[in-house]
Amino acid sequence: MKFLVFLGTVRDSTPPRPARLGERVAKACLKCLADRYGEHEVELIDALDYPLEPVFKPHFAYAAGRAPGALNELADKIASADGFIMISPEYNHLMSPALANLLNHFGSSLFSYKPSAIVTYSAGQWGGMRAAVAMRTFLSELGCLPVSAMIHVPKAQEVFADNGLPQNAESEASWFDYFGRTFHQLIWWGQATTAHRAKADPHELVRDFKKDPSERNAP
Ligand SMILES: Cc1cc2nc3c(=O)[nH]c(=O)nc-3n(C[C@H](O)[C@H](O)[C@H](O)COP(=O)(O)O)c2cc1C
Repeated sequence: MKFLVFLGTVRDSTPPRPARLGERVAKACLKCLADRYGEHEVELIDALDYPLEPVFKPHFAYAAGRAPGALNELADKIASADGFIMISPEYNHLMSPALANLLNHFGSSLFSYKPSAIVTYSAGQWGGMRAAVAMRTFLSELGCLPVSAMIHVPKAQEVFADNGLPQNAESEASWFDYFGRTFHQLIWWGQATTAHRAKADPHELVRDFKKDPSERNAP
C-alpha cells in the first residue's frame, strides 16, 4: 500500500527556535515506517516544496489538465494513495495554516474513503493536542477519516535531534512503539478500505458534488 506523509510546516525563520521543528518529527515518522512497516510505500509531501499562488485557486478550479504541473502531480498522488499521515505543528491552538492551505487545494473526492493518521508536535508541553482535535473535523470533512489513535510529541526539540533520531538513543523503541499504535490502525484501515474500494466503487454509490456543496443539502 502507499501512504503520503504530509509535513505542514513552512516556517524556516526564527524566533521561536528551532525553525521547522516538524522536520525532526517527520524524519522520525519516516524512520519508524521504514524500520517497522517497510513493506509499504511511503512518500513525504513537504508543504515547503509547494509554493502556492498568492490568490487562492484550488486544483479543481482549473479546467481539466490546465492546473500548474505541481498541483496536477500532487492530485494524482493523493488519488492513488491508500492513506495519509498528516504532521502538523500547533499554531495558536490550530493546525498549521500551510497544511490547511495545501489540503484545501484538492477536492475531497481525492482523499475520501481512505484513512488518515494525525501527528502533532509542539515546543511546549501539550504536543499540539488542541490542533489535533481540530484536525479530526478537518480531515473528516475531506473524507479521509482519522483513526482513533493519534501521535503527539510535546517538547519535540528535546525529543528528536536534527536528524530525526531521539536525543536519548534508548528511547527510540518506546517512541516507535507509541507511533506504532497509530500506524497499525492506519495500515489496518488502509488495507480494509483499499480492498473494499476495489469491490464497490464508493463514488458510484455516493456521487461527489461537482459544482457546489449545496448539491448534498437536505431537501
Ligand atoms: C505563530 C505561532 C503560534 C504558536 N502557537 C503555539 C500553540 O498554540 N501551542 C504550542 O504548543 N506551541 C505554539 N507555538 C510554538 C511551536 O510549538 C514551535 O514554534 C514549533 O517549533 C513550531 O513548529 P515548526 O518549527 O515546525 O513550525 C507557536 C509558534 C508560532 C510560530
